[in-house]
Parts: sequence; C-alpha cells; structure tokens
Amino acid sequence: MCKSELHSLIASLPKCEHHLHLEGCLSPSLVFQLASKNNITLPSASEDPAYASPEALAARYNHFTDLNSFLAYYYRALDVVITQDDFEMLGWEYFTTAAADGVKHAEVFFDPQSHTARGISLDTVVKGFEAACKRAEKELGVTSKLIMCFLRHLPVQESRDTMAAAVAGGYFEGEERVIEGLGLDSSEVGFRPELFEEMYAQAEKMGVRRTAHAGEEGDPTYISGALDALRAERIDHGIRLVEDPALLERVVKEDIMLTVCPLSNVCLRAVENVAQVPIRKFLEAGVKFSLNSDDPAYFGGYILKNYCAVQDAFNLNVEEWKVIVQNSIEGSWCGEQRKKELLAMLEDCVQKHTST
Ligand code: ADE
Ligand code: ZN
Repeated sequence: MCKSELHSLIASLPKCEHHLHLEGCLSPSLVFQLASKNNITLPSASEDPAYASPEALAARYNHFTDLNSFLAYYYRALDVVITQDDFEMLGWEYFTTAAADGVKHAEVFFDPQSHTARGISLDTVVKGFEAACKRAEKELGVTSKLIMCFLRHLPVQESRDTMAAAVAGGYFEGEERVIEGLGLDSSEVGFRPELFEEMYAQAEKMGVRRTAHAGEEGDPTYISGALDALRAERIDHGIRLVEDPALLERVVKEDIMLTVCPLSNVCLRAVENVAQVPIRKFLEAGVKFSLNSDDPAYFGGYILKNYCAVQDAFNLNVEEWKVIVQNSIEGSWCGEQRKKELLAMLEDCVQKHTST
C-alpha cells in the first residue's frame, strides 16, 4: 500500500498487464510444494544454502546483483514444474493474485525452451497455461493473451525449432489464436535482437504480434535493433531509451508502447531506486508505457505494489494515472470491444473517485 491519499483510486484502477513471465510467478513455497509432489531433489545445503527452506530462498531473492544472477535462480527453480496441471497451477497462481490487484486484462509471457530442454513437450506447457487463461476469464472476468518468448542466450537454432513446433501445433491459427504474440527474453547484453529476425518475419507474415525485451541492461541500440530487425510493436522494459533522444522521439512518433517494470529494475540493479525509473521523463515526452510486475515471485510483489512504488516515488496526480491506464488499455492486443469495456471501467473508476 502506498502512502498517497490516492491509494484507493490506484488500487481500483482497471489494470492491463503486458510484462509478466508466468514462470516468474513460481514462489518459493510453490517450488517446495511441487518438488515434493514430483519427487524432485532440490539443491543440497552444500550446493546452495538458499534451498534450506522456502523462507531462506525468499530471503536469497533480495540479493540479486544483475539480470543473470536472477536468471540462474529462475531457470533452476523450473525443474520442479513437470505436468500440465503444474503449468495450470502456476498460471492460476498468477491470475488469482493479479485479479485481486485489479488486473482486468493480461498479456503473459512463457518460455517454452526452459521446459522443452527438460523433455517436456510444448503441448504440455501451452495446454496447461491455456487452461489457466480460460479459467481466469470464466471465474475472474480477466481476459488474457499468451506470448511465446525465445531465450536469446541459447543457440538460435533452438528458437527456430520452437517456432516450427508452435506452427506445427496450430497455435498461431485462427482468429482467436492460442498464442497471440512472440517475445524475446533472457540475458540481453551480447545477444542482439537481429539474431532472431527470421522468426519474427515469419510471425509478421502470419499476423502474429511482436514484442521484445530491450534496453533493460542493453544500450539503446538493442531497442532500435528490435524495432528495425524484429519490427517489434512494443518494447519490454526499454528504460535505457532516455539515453537516446532521437530514438525516444521515434518511439513517440511510431506509437511504440514500453512495458516498464519498476520493482524488477530495482531488484536487478538496473536503477538504484524507483525514483530513477524514467517515469516522469516518459510522461513529459509523451512516451506511452504500462506498469508491470515482470517476475512477481522474485521481485517483491505483483502489479499493485509496482503502481504503489511509482506513486511513492513520483506522487502522480489523478490525470496522470488516467493517462497511464488509458495508454495501457489502448496498447493492449485485445479486440476493440474489450478495449471499450476497459475504457468504460476506467471512466467509472475515476468518476467515483472524484465524486467522493
Ligand atoms: N526472463 C524473466 N524475467 C526476465 C527479465 N526481466 N529480463 C529478461 N529475461 C527475463
Ligand atoms: Zn521480463
């Protein structure tokens, strides 16, 4: 909860989340629970004392030094996620918590290669996550889209194979595709977006949406690379955009939305504190962005904590919050009818606040 008198408005805003890794919702307690269910041996105390208990693991998550130091824990924890039901449970963990934070629409990432490398089929992963998405719409009224990410630190051929498997599985077919978009994540520096041009071109031909992590740790050329080579429609993180004023102008002109993750940037030391995330600069320059939780089980909180952290750092007014939420609705990949519903919820929410 933030200290602001706007907290109740902020809590009730109809939120759209566009930067959320379903695998990043695997909490320490769920790691231990699934390890026990699936008979998976976690690292021993001599290998890594952080695995002594869920509490010790949670405490370890407060001491990441950069993106790679986090990713080592993120990938290792996934060894415990095996069955379709496990994937559904992980998805459900996200949707129930997000719904309580006011999320109405979510476009969520998943990393097939972190599972297929362990012998789990793409079908098992997608069907589990798809079941969670369907249940979320039915039981919580939260609409969603799935975004399949390539792991950029692995050989490009593995991304090519993942793309081929998704095409063969029919996941990009039809009006209501099971997989709505492509993403690119994992270690950024040294793994340039241009490497993945071929799969993104194939996606564009099929009408599949495109986004990519860029400018989290990488310099602004990673952002321009994602725009030019991948024809990305959104940029995930993108905070280093402020280092290149001409590119910033281009992002505004081309109506590219950034999916900013304030608590993640602090935890992975991209910035020292939330006040250093360029929220005010983006607002003043007309850069559209949404606020997101990235990997909530690792970075201290779900979306509302990110909204509150931004409010504590920037003390935004009602009009500024309205702009942020309106841009995050309009930058979503849902249909026009759903956008209209979400915009009406926003109007209603702001009106209720101003009339009290
Ligand atoms: N995978 C999960 N979280 C990520 C992040 N913040 N950056 C890159 N890859 C990720
Ligand atoms: Zn991310």
